[in-house]
This record gives sequence, structure tokens and C-alpha cells, in this order.
Amino acid sequence: MKVSKRLIPRRSRLLIMMILLVIYQLVVLVLGLEGVSEGKLASLIDLGNWDLANSSLSISDFIKLKLNGQKTYRKFDEHVYAAMARIQNNENGKLADYESTSSKTDVTIQNVELWKKLNEEEYTYEPRITLAVYLSYIHQRTYDRYATSCAPYNIKVPFAWADWIDLTALNQYLDKTRGCEAVFPNESDAHMKLNNITVVDQLEDLCVTDTSLQNLVNSTFAEEISSRDILSPNFHVFGYSDAKDTPQQKILQSKSYINSWLPLPKSLIFLTDEGSYILKVDQTQNKRIVKSGLLSHFFTKKKREHNLPQDQKTFTFDPVYEFNRLKSRVKPRPLSSEPGIDSILKENDYKLKLKESSFIFNYGRILSNYEERLESLDDFEKSHYESLAYSSLLQARKLPKHFGEVILKNPQDGGIHYDYRFFNGLIDKTQINRFEDETERKKIILHRLLRTWQYFTYHNNIINWISHGSLLSWYWDGLAFPWDNDIDVQMPIMELNNFCKQFNNSLIIEDVSQGFGRYYVDCTTFLTQRTRGNGNNNIDARFIDVSSGLFIDITGLALTGSTMPKRYSDKLVQQPKKSDSTDSTPENGLTRNLRQNLNAQVYNCRNSHFYQYSELSPLKLSLVEGALTLIPNDFVTILETEYQRKGLEKNTYAKYLYVPELRLWMSYNDIYDILQGTNSHGRPLSTKTMASIFPRLNSDINLKKFLRNDHTFKNIYSTFNVTLVHEDELKYLIANYDQNKPKSAEYRQFLENLQFMNPIRKDLVTYESRLKALDGFNEIEELERKQENREKEKKEKKEKEEKEKKEKEKKEKEEKEEKEKKEKEEKEKKEKEEREKKEKQEKEGNDKKEKEETEEKEETENKEKQEEERKEKEEHEKHHNEDEQPKEQEIHQVAEE
Ligand SMILES: *[C@@H]1O[C@H](CO)[C@@H](O)[C@H](O)[C@H]1NC(C)=O
Ligand SMILES: *[C@@H]1O[C@H](CO)[C@@H](O)[C@H](O)[C@H]1NC(C)=O
Ligand SMILES: *[C@@H]1O[C@H](CO)[C@@H](O)[C@H](O)[C@H]1NC(C)=O
Ligand SMILES: *[C@@H]1O[C@H](CO)[C@@H](O)[C@H](O)[C@H]1NC(C)=O
Ligand SMILES: *[C@@H]1O[C@H](CO)[C@@H](O)[C@H](O)[C@H]1NC(C)=O
Ligand SMILES: *[C@@H]1O[C@H](CO)[C@@H](O)[C@H](O)[C@H]1NC(C)=O
Repeated sequence: MKVSKRLIPRRSRLLIMMILLVIYQLVVLVLGLEGVSEGKLASLIDLGNWDLANSSLSISDFIKLKLNGQKTYRKFDEHVYAAMARIQNNENGKLADYESTSSKTDVTIQNVELWKKLNEEEYTYEPRITLAVYLSYIHQRTYDRYATSCAPYNIKVPFAWADWIDLTALNQYLDKTRGCEAVFPNESDAHMKLNNITVVDQLEDLCVTDTSLQNLVNSTFAEEISSRDILSPNFHVFGYSDAKDTPQQKILQSKSYINSWLPLPKSLIFLTDEGSYILKVDQTQNKRIVKSGLLSHFFTKKKREHNLPQDQKTFTFDPVYEFNRLKSRVKPRPLSSEPGIDSILKENDYKLKLKESSFIFNYGRILSNYEERLESLDDFEKSHYESLAYSSLLQARKLPKHFGEVILKNPQDGGIHYDYRFFNGLIDKTQINRFEDETERKKIILHRLLRTWQYFTYHNNIINWISHGSLLSWYWDGLAFPWDNDIDVQMPIMELNNFCKQFNNSLIIEDVSQGFGRYYVDCTTFLTQRTRGNGNNNIDARFIDVSSGLFIDITGLALTGSTMPKRYSDKLVQQPKKSDSTDSTPENGLTRNLRQNLNAQVYNCRNSHFYQYSELSPLKLSLVEGALTLIPNDFVTILETEYQRKGLEKNTYAKYLYVPELRLWMSYNDIYDILQGTNSHGRPLSTKTMASIFPRLNSDINLKKFLRNDHTFKNIYSTFNVTLVHEDELKYLIANYDQNKPKSAEYRQFLENLQFMNPIRKDLVTYESRLKALDGFNEIEELERKQENREKEKKEKKEKEEKEKKEKEKKEKEEKEEKEKKEKEEKEKKEKEEREKKEKQEKEGNDKKEKEETEEKEETENKEKQEEERKEKEEHEKHHNEDEQPKEQEIHQVAEE
């Protein structure tokens, strides 16, 4: 830096910079790039003259520094803050790109009649409308109706998945021209694997068409499907296929499954920081809001509240407004009567002691308790009872897999990180439009997933802690690893059992004032099975993001008869061997294990991860991704056991480098691009290449380049405050590692101040609609326009048809009149002829032969004359009716003969 300054005079440097800036701006103009460009950023960020003196540290040094509470990096922090402040203060700085919460949360529909019509014909997806409508309905059912300020207990609501999950992919098949082969192509793996038939009318256990459904009179799915008020293609997927397919096929399978078969959730739980609003789903009312009357309720309520005219067509839906209003009038209900985690922590020096009994799963007692009062079980207890009872009868070796993931042709695509029912495409391989950074949506979903889980469990006394990869990544910077695709948490088995009883099959809705996430709770059927068995069911429950299928893996820890690992048994005092000879039988071996585990307080999950009580308890309060969380007491030992020391020290992993100054894991490609000033287009970069680039990070100017890169700076901007808190915290956690040392007042102060921070990333719905807006696209308007055109087309078609009909009628009328006229003439002629004949006969009778000749002559003349007349007339008629002419002539001839 100093050398370069001397070589290039200050003025020239300025000039060069300005020229570069102008060129850049031109490029921006020509390419029409949006967002905060690097050029803009460069002008916003203070390029101070400062050297990062001490950054060539190994990660072990880094940890040591942390242990000593060194603040080596704070100098760089100031640059980051300066850059952040510039963005915040600059009006043109497009803060909206950076902020995680948005000021615009509403959606407007211009013409509700049109909207309703559209929704009769196809699926639309706008969760903000759904949320606003349901929240307004709670308000109406409580405050409006009973003037009550207490949250409802037993409000039953209609429900259809299509309001909550994007099912618009089904629209293209609603013409019913395609059967099951649209979802499971004849040549697909699923076909081969499952029944190898070519006629895809009914794929056994997998898919059924409308036609074959009619023949399945007695089946549960025929009943289920006919009970649903759904729009549907001519196929219904009702099974899980583990055959390898393309993402597109899997998406369609999941959409159809949701539409036709996925059970409705038991309840809808709207989270708030003071409790929840709980709605029970009326299982017999599978109806979207446009059909159930909920939408009409909303319109009526708005018209009344705002004195709108009866024929008002334009309505705005703002879920955040509805949420805040509801909260201010109707108090949400705590989900648990026990003291909250918050108060337990405050009263116990910020330690949460786990009950040993919570690791012991005496399901036999739970079952007999249920059996004593079988008649009076509520819905939740009943299905809990059935699940436990069923599970307790099964053999560990024969369990089917409870959870299904997405099995793709290319396993590298990571389909196993998605629940098959909610799969909506590979999150990091699809782009909404050119404004999207393809890594952002995954970050958003995982951030919101983890945050909402913590928010839900912390506020509702569901004791759990982060584990495995999530604990390791928390250790580094308090965030999730950018390469991770799932989140892991653990619970004592009794906590898990209660959690499942209360929330299995519930739809959890994020605190609407912060975002619009929706998550489905699914617990395994085999909760009573606590050993690995056939390995099919290592996971006990999942918290699933319904918009993508990404999930949190929840596992229970329990006292079992599994053999404890050596690290614990070595520590055990050798107990004198009992003289009892039956001690060596397998059955007693199991009991001995159990006894040993009980004595040593060793618990395990079904995937044979073991923990000792003191490693877990007391849990500590911390922050992960800016959300309050609990962490195990001795997380260092736990992490070292699972990942060895290098997991805590090695600063490179899977083509990522940990950059302590940024407190972030950066991908090699990003580092390469920023430092080289080129675009590597994500190509694989060799370790050698990177080894030559890493040392350059030691210079301040290179570090500051990160602040000038739009994509990276956004990431730094949103995480910096959160990771700072984590750095502070580690100082206490590791420095005070010695259990006997009293906690410093400073740490206590730190813990007292901890609270849920603002979300780091935008909510998905807001993010996607903002991306579309950058492209000048408004989905609702687009749909309304589409429907308008459709209505117009329909009207035109109808008008055309009517016109044609009228013309046809007119023509027919004319023809009819003509015919009638002719018939009349015909009749008259006949009558005349007959009269003449009669007269002739009479005459003949009087003077016979005398006048015969004359008469004959006359008659002939007459005839000829008539013939002439007739011909003339025919000639005339020919213009009107050519077809009937020959026929008439025939009649004449017959009559004359
Ligand atoms: C970095 O700082 C540490 C702690 O202050 C010091 O021990 C070390 O020598 C410094 N390294 C360099 C390269 O200046
Ligand atoms: C399925 O049918 C195809 C074609 O008839 C055959 O080649 C294949 O071996 C069959 N697969 C199985 C699993 O039966
Ligand atoms: C699959 O089988 C169905 C039924 O026999 C047939 O109509 C369809 O054309 C086949 N599709 C393909 C791609 O072979
Ligand atoms: C049809 O339903 C009845 C009553 O539920 C049941 O007894 C019978 O076995 C069913 N038949 C078939 C073919 O599934
Ligand atoms: C949770 O619900 C699912 C789906 O209804 C069911 O299969 C499972 O047995 C339930 N689990 C528990 C523990 O209740
Ligand atoms: C980070 O913290 C600073 C100082 O408290 C604050 O001014 C800034 O707004 C915060 N930034 C974000 C993105 O929350």
C-alpha cells in the first residue's frame, strides 16, 4: 500500500479512480443493472488509510486470542461500521436491499369479482392474503363477536393446503388430459420399480386417475379425495416413491400429494412473543378461503369497518396490520401452564437444569394411563395413544421408514435434505430472475426455519438445544454454516413425547410481524423405539418449512440398553462382578447395560450418539442466528467428541475459508472473485490456487475489497451485529470454562441483555415479491390481467356465438315462411284442380262424348297454360329453394297422372 502510494501520485490516483467509476457507471447504465452496485458502494465506503497489522493468524491463534479476550479485529470493525452507516444514511443507498424487515407487507386486489372467478378456475398463491384473512377472522370471532380480549380456545376453521402452499404447478394439468403418466412417466424408475406396467391408469400405492377412482368405491383415498373441495388434474398422487426421478417430476408428485392426500393439519398456531393464537382445523371442511366464505367474511368486515360501498371491488390485505391489531385487542394464549424458560433462567442464574427423569421414557405407564380413560381422550391424546400403542408392538428390526426424502437421479443435488411432501425444487439451483443471488434463498429459508423454531420453543417451554453441525457452526460465528442444508436439535425424550402429543401435525406460523413462514410439525410413529434397529428411523421428528421442504431434524435422547462408548465406560469404577451366573444371558446383558447407563447418566439418540448428563445439563442461554437458543453445558467436549479438535480449529472446510475479520465463512469462489477482480463462475478452484491467494487477505486493502462487493457486503451488513455478540460471548464461555469459577458479573449482565435480535434475512415471501418487483413484475396484477383477458375472451366468444345464433334463427325463420307460402299455394292449386275435376266429371255425366273433343282440347290448353304458369313460378322459386324443386315437380306429375 505504502509503495503503491509513492509510485502513483495522489492526483493521478484520483483521476484513475474517477475514470474507472465513470466507466463502471456506463457499464451499469448499458447493462441496466439494479441494486447497490459496487461502484455506488465504493463511493459510500470510507477507503481509509489503515493497515491491518495482525491478521496472519492461524485459527488456533485465533481461538487463543479469543480465549484471552483480545480484540485484534476491532480496528477492522470500524471500517465495517463506517460502511454500514453510509448505507443507512444515504437516501439513494437502497436500504431496502439490506434491511431484513420490509415496510411493505400488503397486497392489493383491484377487482375481487375477477379474483374470485380466477380462483374458481385455477390455483393462485399469495400467503399474505391467506394470513390476513385468517387473522381478521380470529378478530371477528373474538373481539367483534364477544368483545373478548382472551384468545380463542376452540375456534374451528376450514382449511385447504392450496391457500398455504404454492400449488400453481398443477394449473397446467387442470384440463385433465394427462393421467398418472404425467407424474410418473412410463420409462421412469418409479414405474420399473413399482409394478412395471405400461398402462398408467392406476399405479398401485402411488397414483390414481379420476377414472379409476370411480371404480375404487370402497377405498379410503376415494373417500378422502371426494371429500376435498379441490381443483385437480386427472391424477392423484397418494404415495411416497423412493424411485429416482428428476426434480420436475418430484415437484409435481409433491404438489399432487398435498392437493389430494396430505392430511389437513390438526391446528394452526400463530406465534407471538406472548403466547399463541390457536385455531383448530375442521377436518370436514377442506375448502379454500374463496370457497369457504372466509374471504367474503373479510370483505364484509372491511366494508363495515371502513364504510365502504357494497359494490366495493378493491381491497388491500395486510397481514402485519391484522396481526398487530389482533394482538393489541385479543391477548394470545400461552401454550403451557408451566413457568417459561425465560423465568426459569432468570431465577437460576441463567442455567437450565434438565430433569434426569426427562430422559427416561416409561411409555408403558403413559399407555396404561391412556387406557384407563380411553373414552375421554381428546383428539390429540387419542392419536398420541394410537401412535405409541402401535409403535410399542413393533420389532425394531422391521420398522418401515417414517420420513421420506426426495430421491433424485443425481444424488449430488442433495434431494435428501428435502421432505418429499413439500418439495418445491432445488433451492440453490433455481433462480427467480436475474436479480437473484442463487445462494440467498437457501440462507433465507434456513435462517427463518431456525429462528422460528427457537422462537416457538423458547416462548412455549419446549426444552431443546442445538446439536451436531448446528452446534459446531454456532461455535464458530453464531450462525449456520453456509454449506449446510439442515439444522439439528435434540430434546430429552419426555420433552419430545410431550411436544409430539401437543403439536404433531400442527402448522406453525411465524410471528407475522416478522415474516410469513409456515412450518409443519411431523413426529415419527415409532417414538417408543429407542435403539438404532434397522437404521430407518434415526430422526424422531421434523419441523418442516412447507414452502421448500427443508427441515430441522429433531432427535430425542433417552436412557436405553445400548452399550455405552468406551470414553464413558473407561471412566466407570470397575464394579465387582456379581456371582449370579445368569448375568451373562443376553436379556440380563441388556439390563446390565441399562443399569450401567442409568448409573453413569448416559443417554443416546437412535443414531448412537451418546451424551453424559453433565455434558448437557445445565443448558446455557445463547444466540444462534440472532435467536435465543439453549446450548449444552459442555459443548466443547461434545464437539471434540464428534468432530475432533480440528473441527474447532481448522479454518477451511469444503471450499470455504473462515475470515475472522468478517466473522464469516467465505467460499473460495467469492474470495477468488473479489481478490482477483474476475468472475470464476463457481468453477472448482484448486487448493493450490487458493493457497496462493489466502495470504493476500492479510492486507487491509484486500479486506476492504470485501466491503466493496455488493453480494458479500450485504452478507456482512446483515450478520455483523449478531456475530459480534457471539464473539463477546465466546470470551466468557471459554475463559470461564472452569466450572468452579463463579460467573463474572459481566457475563451475567451479558446474558440479561440477550434477546431475540431482528431477523438477519428477509422473509421469503417478501424477498421473492421484491425480486419480482425489481423486474417490474407484480404477480397479483399479472394474474388479474390474465383473468381480465380471459373474461374478455369469454365475453367475445359468447357474443360471437349469440350473433351466429341470431343469424341462424333469422335464416331459419325466412325459410320457414317461404315454405309455408309455397305450401299454401300448393294447397290452393290442388283445391282448384280438384274443383275443376269435379266440375268436369259433372259435365261429363251430362253431355258425354259431344263435348269430349272440345273439353279435351280445353283441358289440354288449360294444362298447358297451367304448366306454363307452373314453370314460371318454379323458375321464380328456384332462387329461393332449389332443393325442394324436383320433389315438387314429382308430386305434380304424380297428381296429374
Ligand atoms: C499479533 O498479535 C499477537 C497478540 O497481540 C502477538 O502475540 C503477535 O506477535 C502479533 N503478530 C504479528 C504478526 O504482529
Ligand atoms: C420391466 O419391464 C421391462 C420391459 O418389459 C424389463 O426389461 C425389465 O426387466 C422389467 N423390470 C422389472 C423390475 O421387472
Ligand atoms: C405411457 O402409457 C400410456 C398408456 O399406455 C400411453 O398412452 C402413453 O402414450 C405412454 N407414454 C409414453 C411417453 O410412452
Ligand atoms: C368395503 O367396506 C366394507 C365396510 O367397511 C368392508 O367390510 C369390506 O371389506 C370392504 N370391501 C373391500 C373390497 O375393501
Ligand atoms: C404424528 O402424526 C403422524 C401423521 O398423522 C402419525 O403417523 C404419527 O404416528 C404421529 N406421531 C406421534 C408420536 O403421535
Ligand atoms: C448494528 O448495530 C449498530 C450499533 O448498535 C446499529 O446502529 C445498526 O443499525 C445495527 N445494524 C443492523 C443491520 O442491525
